[in-house]
Amino acid sequence: MFQRHFHAQDTDLIIASHPKTGTTWLKSLLFVIVNRFKHPKNGSPLLKHHPHELVYRLENGVYGEAFEYPRPQHLKELPSPRLFNTHLPYNSLPESILSSGCRVLYISRNPLDTVVSFYYFILDGMRKILHEEEFINTSLEDFFEDFYNGRNTNGPFFEHVIGYWKASLEHPDKLLFLKYEDLKKDPVSHVKKLAEFVGVPFSPQEESEGVIQDIIQLCSIKNLKELEVNKSGVFNKYFDKKSYFRKGEVGDGAHQLAPNMVERMNKLMQEKLDGTGLSF
Ligand code: A3P
Repeated sequence: MFQRHFHAQDTDLIIASHPKTGTTWLKSLLFVIVNRFKHPKNGSPLLKHHPHELVYRLENGVYGEAFEYPRPQHLKELPSPRLFNTHLPYNSLPESILSSGCRVLYISRNPLDTVVSFYYFILDGMRKILHEEEFINTSLEDFFEDFYNGRNTNGPFFEHVIGYWKASLEHPDKLLFLKYEDLKKDPVSHVKKLAEFVGVPFSPQEESEGVIQDIIQLCSIKNLKELEVNKSGVFNKYFDKKSYFRKGEVGDGAHQLAPNMVERMNKLMQEKLDGTGLSF
């Protein structure tokens, strides 16, 4: 439905990602960067709304069953620039996203951290839609095997990442490729990069007033996790709001997985990324 009916506008900003790679964080940052002139410093909608209620997911938010989102007919009423996200692989994006002037921001993450994050998200956050017994009996080891073999929602992990990586090299003005680990390591330069990419760079005055640091602090997992709006409740019937904020660390995967799993995944990563210029 989304693939057939969505018409991207030139001003749209679309976050793309494989699940559990930092989508919620990027949504928060992008929303605040883009809307920073509309709201007073302490009045950000991010303080009252879960990030997923501020940036709509296209495939099963706007065009799916999730009735809390605006319906497609309301999309034209959204203020510009419209912010959306998708987990679809690059080669499944609707034609209008590729041919219009809209920009795409892709976030990627180390597969070890991604698979562990994914497992706990499903285990803790989606109990309501799972046949509990069935999933609870799925071990991290079994989940890892599926992920490793590319049996995964939204398609195999490496193909997802490489699809967007190659597109970002071919169309650097259209697609910005980010890594969760880089954002963690150097948030200031990445927030600046983000703002420049979407056409709202920080002025020297904003920089000297510490606006970038304020945004980073507002969107930090530590801050978002403690907000009432993110602590309890569900949205779209099923999703526990708090399950989107777990540890937010780099390297958690390697600690949680057995050494032989880490070794196998690293080997697969080497093979898959060989010659691409990309590494984690
Ligand atoms: P962990 O499970 O490793 O903690 P997504 O948003 O794509 O679903 O990804 C979820 C992952 O991003 C989770 O990782 C979550 O804790 C982390 N995350 C959520 N908000 C974050 C933030 N503001 N800063 C850093 N990481 C964040």
